[in-house]
Amino acid sequence: MDSKKTKIDNCIILKFKEIFNIQGNLIPIEQIKDVPFEIKRVYFLYRITENSKRGGHAHKALYQVILSLNGSFDVLLDDGFTKKIVHLSNPNEGLLIVPGIWRELFSFSNNSICLVLASELYDEHDYIRNYDEFIKFKALENK
Ligand code: TYD
Repeated sequence: MDSKKTKIDNCIILKFKEIFNIQGNLIPIEQIKDVPFEIKRVYFLYRITENSKRGGHAHKALYQVILSLNGSFDVLLDDGFTKKIVHLSNPNEGLLIVPGIWRELFSFSNNSICLVLASELYDEHDYIRNYDEFIKFKALENK
């Protein structure tokens, strides 16, 4: 996907299969099959403090799937033209965030855990951390 052209509607909720068991449930996630990329990196946010705000950036090439493993939080998605807020509260739902989307994570509930599956290794050069820069990055395409 051309990250200058992506829209928030490209960010969809993926539903993962749940394997229920009286002793505890299980959700398997396989690259390509369950998420539309090869998973090169996994990280998670935990012990998130009250009123924490995370994210506040976009990526040029990175695809991510964000899940709430415990508790809940909100994700603001912004393609430079349209914004929407997605509430994540169920571990069987993953929010696919395509490249070229500004995202902010907030309203974390107590003890929430946010898992991120990522298509690339960590690379600071892939980040756009300044909102004005992001708007310029997206707007150039639409002139
Ligand atoms: P950042 O991506 O800004 O986190 P968030 O968007 O959740 O607020 O990263 C915070 C810090 O962690 C920053 O110094 C970079 C580092 N970091 C890594 O070293 N590897 C990683 O995979 C990630 C996501 C962050």
